[in-house]
Amino acid sequence: MPHNLSLHVDDTAESLRAVAERIALDAADLVRRRRREVFSGNLAQDGAVSSKSTPTDPVTIVDSESEELIRQRLAELRPSDRILGEEGGGDSETSGIRWVVDPIDGTVNFMYGIGAYAVSIAAQRDGVSVAGAVVDVPTGVLYSAALGAGAYMRDSEGEVTTLRCSAETAMSHALVATGFGYGAARREHQGQLVASLLPRIRDIRRIGAASLDLCLLAAGRVDAYFEHGLHPWDWAAAALIASEAGASVTVPSPTSSGDDGDITYAAAPGVAQEFADALDKLGALRQL
Ligand code: IPD
Repeated sequence: MPHNLSLHVDDTAESLRAVAERIALDAADLVRRRRREVFSGNLAQDGAVSSKSTPTDPVTIVDSESEELIRQRLAELRPSDRILGEEGGGDSETSGIRWVVDPIDGTVNFMYGIGAYAVSIAAQRDGVSVAGAVVDVPTGVLYSAALGAGAYMRDSEGEVTTLRCSAETAMSHALVATGFGYGAARREHQGQLVASLLPRIRDIRRIGAASLDLCLLAAGRVDAYFEHGLHPWDWAAAALIASEAGASVTVPSPTSSGDDGDITYAAAPGVAQEFADALDKLGALRQL
């Protein structure tokens, strides 16, 4: 059921956050319902799944439907703004307000019925994220932030928790999330990098949705995150959420596309310097 859209909308970060939250919750409802209709286990209806950049980079009809809904709602509430979406593409121009949309982050998990996929919506002003909302679709948990106003999560019962990064201070004890691109050559390098990092940390997590990796960092459930080759829609909302929760966050330039292979990395404040130094020493602070 659509959430009430009678918002007072102006250009403040808080107001943009309210728009991102409402629309992300509506899109998450649609994704949840359509998964039940379109998939049986990990079997999709005929024609429901196709591939994009490589044969293992999927897009489903539900990704497209979710993005269509988000675009329609944004057109109602913010008719003058630009939109960049994972499926529909859009404006690479970053001036003014641009919405950056991932209609399903973690599409492989979505297809297989693994409970870690999300809707992610950010508002950027002149290329900088000022508001963002990520909804973990299977659980209904909302993560949200506005620049300078902090980050919180709200569970499906309505309980609200302020997000704070972990207090970890030793990289040797850090739980580090990461992810891999869809191209074979980049993956080979990413695998080598993980192999070099693994002996220096507590462990690695590959959850399968970059937005959720960064939200888990914000919630103190992992201590650091890094990945090469993210697209703006993967990080635009969740990097702000992590940063507002106290993480040290480095993102690609607003005009960089995933194809450039830039690194995104973020860590709880107590391990941030050690983590950045380790990535530097491993030659990871470059494009892959
Ligand atoms: C992918 C996920 C994954 C990350 C990939 C992304 P998608 O997004 O966030 O965790 O490792 O780099 O492309 O394709 O599911 O929207």
